[in-house]
Amino acid sequence: MFVSDFNADWLDHPFLLNQKLIDSDEEVARTAASGIDSVYIDTKRGLDADDMPTAAEAAQELEAALVGVFAADENPTPTFADSLTAARDVICSARRALRELLSSVRLGRSVDVPAAAETARRLAVGAARHPHACLLLGRLNRSDDYTFRHSVNVALILGIFARSQQLPEETVQALALGGILHDVGKMVVPVDILHKPGALGAVEMQVMREHVSSGVRLVREPENFLDAVAFDVIAEHHERCDGTGYPHGLKADAISLGGRMGGIIDVYDALTSDRVYRRAVSPAESIRKLFEWAEHHFDRNLTHAFIKTVGIYPAGSLLRLESGRIGVVLRQGEQSLMAPVVRVIYDTHRMAFITPVDIELAKTADRVVSHEAPEKWNIPIERFID
Ligand SMILES: [Fe+2]
Repeated sequence: MFVSDFNADWLDHPFLLNQKLIDSDEEVARTAASGIDSVYIDTKRGLDADDMPTAAEAAQELEAALVGVFAADENPTPTFADSLTAARDVICSARRALRELLSSVRLGRSVDVPAAAETARRLAVGAARHPHACLLLGRLNRSDDYTFRHSVNVALILGIFARSQQLPEETVQALALGGILHDVGKMVVPVDILHKPGALGAVEMQVMREHVSSGVRLVREPENFLDAVAFDVIAEHHERCDGTGYPHGLKADAISLGGRMGGIIDVYDALTSDRVYRRAVSPAESIRKLFEWAEHHFDRNLTHAFIKTVGIYPAGSLLRLESGRIGVVLRQGEQSLMAPVVRVIYDTHRMAFITPVDIELAKTADRVVSHEAPEKWNIPIERFID
């Protein structure tokens, strides 16, 4: 047969020319031995081969395979509904894992750092793929025990914030791990103090504050070698830039990046949660508080960057629009913090629920008038997010 193309780099086949009449078994063997398993032949200049595709057919096959591979790799943007389903799985399994992990610490066992790291990794990866849905669901679905969901939330938001700051993947996952374990020391705080309804007395407060040093001790046990960035979050999430924090009263730059980021997010998530001793404030309200506190307690630039990430009206906020409609923020708008994507669910003129519709405020004439407390309108936000 006449080989018109050895389908290999010139240096990879054993012949001088890239076209050649092959007319002996020895030459076939030499060709095969050089790693060539298919060649193009010219049937006008030599014999044909039975049952072999023509050059055109081979090209077509190649094209189809090429398109197939890259179509499979393309990761089409999931719909918001699909993202919600995926995010719910990610969050629920993290909460389950954390319940197990923290409960075993409560029973006196040592912290399973590899299990925590795996949970953090999954959260960080899931949050990278579905950030909007994760932020929204982290806000809602608050039926679990506070410590589990708060820890998962802090990890989730830390991961999303760290990624938005272009930190390396390794640091993103280490921060998420710090988030998972930031309050692990609470597992040695007596339950009656941890869950006390009402204000803590001075002694109880002291015991509560010891959760930081207990956490540090728990993860410092020799078998628990923990990433330094994750460790910083545990050790320094209650330090404040003006030196009013604990346990060491560190100031500004003396607080690690993990400690500063962890502090902001710990407070943000705690504010938006119902606690035994107070009602949650809305996400939009807690952003306003963080903004105020950034002047003293927090790293101002970092707090502003955080607000840019979660928005002035974070996912899960209830907004009143100029049209009189009320909607839930699904995610931030691409262009402006003032124009998020909103699911409108209620009409204040008719005082009635309406068929939910998702609107991108940037693309409509409607705009935000104010953020609203869900209790004021008696709107069960969860029921509209599914
Ligand atoms: Fe804490």
